[in-house]
Formats: sequence, C-alpha cells, structure tokens
Amino acid sequence: MQILIIHGPNLNLLGAREQGIYGKVSLQEIERDLAKLAKKEQVTLEFYQSNHEGEIVSKIQQAQRGCDGIVINPAAYTHTSVAIRDAIAAITIPVVEVHLSNIHAREDFRKESYVSPVARGVVFGFGPRSYQLGLLGLIKILKEGNHSNG
Ligand code: DQA
Repeated sequence: MQILIIHGPNLNLLGAREQGIYGKVSLQEIERDLAKLAKKEQVTLEFYQSNHEGEIVSKIQQAQRGCDGIVINPAAYTHTSVAIRDAIAAITIPVVEVHLSNIHAREDFRKESYVSPVARGVVFGFGPRSYQLGLLGLIKILKEGNHSNG
C-alpha cells in the first residue's frame, strides 16, 4: 500500500513557526514518526511539501497513478483553494485532511475548509498526532475497501 503525505505552505517552518499554536516539533520529526508508524503498518509513504498551490494540484493529480490514498494538510490553502478542492474531487483515491491545530477554535476565516466536503475524513486539533490518526484512519478504510471521498 502506497500513501502520499502532502504538506502545504509554511509547514516546512514547523518547530520554529508560531510555536504557541503549532508546537516545537519540526516537519522532519513528524515525518520520522510517520515513517515509523508506516513501517509498523506495512505501508509505504511518500512525503511532499510545497509552498505553491499549482504544484500541490499537480501532485494530487499524479497521485491517482500509483498511490492508494493521500493524507494532506493543505495549511492556509484549506481556506482559499478551489483548485486544490477540485483536484481532490477529480481523483478517486481517498483523501484525508489533517490539521495540527483546532481550526474551529481560531480566527473565523479558518473555520471554513474548501477541502473538507471532498475529503474522506478530517482530523484536527491533535498537534502532530493529527497526521498519525489521519494515516491510521486512511489505512483502515483502504483495508476495508471503502474508498470514496466526500
Ligand atoms: C494548519 C491550520 C491552517 O489554518 C494554517 O493556515 C496552517 C496550519 C494546521 O495544521 O493547523 O498553516 O493547517
């Protein structure tokens, strides 16, 4: 089983960025822990981070060939990107949306996600564990063969 993990803009700065909200754990540490979990679950992960909307759209489109599912933290694009939403709607592999912070407990503009309506599931508010929970949920639905988004 091959799963793509996508991190959106500014997540390359985790660990240094707004520590009061996102904590001190770096993206590298999050990926290291996810890789350990993947090994235990016997799945293969590919990691991808981009600060560019179009690159993320292309990566989602490409994932359709060769990947079984996607875990994505679209970061700020969650609240702005019709293009990322449409890319997810266009593919048939399941997509799980994750966020470190509780986006509903923050500014009003973060309460709307363009991605959630087309995601298979959403996990937010558990810090770096949101990724692990999202990955485990995705593995479970893939194993059960229950694949569709939205
Ligand atoms: C985030 C929440 C977004 O609102 C924000 O723009 C981010 C990170 C999170 O993981 O909590 O960059 O996706």
